[in-house]
Amino acid sequence: MDIFAALTRHHETMRELFAKAAENRDFFEELKNHLRVHHRNEEKILYDVLQTREKTRKDAIEAVEEHHIIEIMLVELENFPREHERWAIKLEVLEEYTEHHFEEEEKEIFPQGAEVLKESESRQMAERFEMVKEKQLAVL
Ligand SMILES: [Fe+2]
Ligand SMILES: [Fe+2]
Ligand SMILES: [Fe+2]
Repeated sequence: MDIFAALTRHHETMRELFAKAAENRDFFEELKNHLRVHHRNEEKILYDVLQTREKTRKDAIEAVEEHHIIEIMLVELENFPREHERWAIKLEVLEEYTEHHFEEEEKEIFPQGAEVLKESESRQMAERFEMVKEKQLAVL
């Protein structure tokens, strides 16, 4: 598996968690943990490298900025009364924004990233991502 497949697979997990959280607000904690762990490691493992390549630099910086917006929205959801009708609507807005972000990665950034990384490098990144993701999620 390469890093792009590993990250896309994790996007699928989070899409499912968004659907679960819309049904049952208790799933928000799990969703939040996955989003934070995903973004932290995607940045460290992939975007730090893609920012050093001319072809992917701008898109990599945009993706990190979008992580920042998602984090702001997560903090807002954490601090907003969960029983309020607007909480569920805020969650929907977060889902729409995050879906835009995932799609941009899957359709634009990852294919370009695959062109600038060596296959061996990409496979090593996937191993590292899987390892740290499991480790970090286990203690949350
Ligand atoms: Fe991602
Ligand atoms: Fe991302
Ligand atoms: Fe975007």
